[in-house]
Amino acid sequence: MIPNDVTNTIHDSSLLFSSYEAGSALKKALNMTREDILFELKASKLKGRGGAGFPTSTKWMLVAAAKGDDKFIICNADEGEPGTFKDRVLLMNYPFLVLDGMVIGAYTVGAQHGYIYLRGEYVYMRDYLEDCLAEMREDNLLGDNILGKEGFNFDISIVMGAGAYVCGEETALIESLEGQRGEPRNRPPYPVNTGLCGQPTTVNNVETLATVPHILLMGGEEYAKRGTASSAGSKLFSVSGDCDKPGVYELPWGITINELLEKVGARDTKAVQVGGASGVCVPKSKFNRTLSFEDAPTGGSIMIFNESRDMLHVLKNFMEFFVEESCGQCTPCRIGNQKLLEGVEMIERKDYTFSYINDLKDLAHTMKVASKCGLGQSSPNPFLSILEDFKDEIFLTKCNGGV
Ligand SMILES: Cc1cc2nc3c(=O)[nH]c(=O)nc-3n(C[C@H](O)[C@H](O)[C@H](O)COP(=O)(O)O)c2cc1C
Ligand code: SF4
Repeated sequence: MIPNDVTNTIHDSSLLFSSYEAGSALKKALNMTREDILFELKASKLKGRGGAGFPTSTKWMLVAAAKGDDKFIICNADEGEPGTFKDRVLLMNYPFLVLDGMVIGAYTVGAQHGYIYLRGEYVYMRDYLEDCLAEMREDNLLGDNILGKEGFNFDISIVMGAGAYVCGEETALIESLEGQRGEPRNRPPYPVNTGLCGQPTTVNNVETLATVPHILLMGGEEYAKRGTASSAGSKLFSVSGDCDKPGVYELPWGITINELLEKVGARDTKAVQVGGASGVCVPKSKFNRTLSFEDAPTGGSIMIFNESRDMLHVLKNFMEFFVEESCGQCTPCRIGNQKLLEGVEMIERKDYTFSYINDLKDLAHTMKVASKCGLGQSSPNPFLSILEDFKDEIFLTKCNGGV
């Protein structure tokens, strides 16, 4: 059963949401050398769409070059970032784009097996995706000697996610796939050398994989003509909150927040949270910032808050999320997020001093450098950005006159 809510609405179809003939890019890829595919990907300047923006050609080149008895490709479909729902839309509407992307990736890096790590709540799409995989096996797009390519054997399994936000972090995901508790590993070693079962592994976001077939069909250079110099191509944005037209939008990187707000029918906007709970909260005075890796990056989540929203309440919500989702392995994140939440609650009760809030800001900066994984490294972002950019609202209305 597919949820019938506004977040299933697709706006602006340009590339990813254009028609795609299943298997077409794969057929082209299998007539190319691995080096040619890597060359096209490099020319496209494709950066990972999962949030960190690591160049896909480099990741695949590292796995291709790594030594291992087995190699793996994992599609990260955990989609746990609050406010993100574009991977769900891609998997339901364009499954063969994602699956072809995985097979092309497998051919390029030399993987024999692939896994889709599917968010637990997306269990309703499992049977549908299994049917798609069965269809591909029938058409010899999966299995042995794929499309007659002697020695290219590859298949895909679906594994349900364990239900924690941190399991989307690639090393925690790998632990979870191996049957362990989903906790991030120390890095290095990186998954490209020591990943699933200790073998070279590439973990890629759903959208990253879905982009690869289009790049091969249109050519890397052509793809790189969209977007900006450092953020090539288009991006899927999951837009939610106070606007008339929430849903998934495909837009070129580099669009300003103002332009996006106009498109989605947002009025009286006070703040836009870019990049999910761990992103930054942009105030009205900075709506000319661009959505791009070089300015305001995002894995896709855009949350819009209008003038009626209480920004301290918004911040409290995010900090409660991080306290809940910290895996607890390292102290800066486990204790730090609790301390930041306590600070927000003190402001709410009007029972704080500015000197203590400044100590908490120092703690937030320490968490960013001392935490083991991206969760603790980025969870202080909303604390720092909301207290700074909405200080008049928060401190003038909630001030106890403290020092
Ligand atoms: C706490 C946390 C949660 C994450 N969740 C996801 C996720 O749900 N989906 C995803 O693709 N990447 C997620 N990531 C990023 C992955 O670790 C990894 O960078 C990404 O899957 C790599 O794919 P890409 O190179 O295609 O972007 C998360 C990272 C962190 C720190
Ligand atoms: S930063 Fe947080 S989520 Fe990441 S390993 Fe440390 S405690 Fe776990």
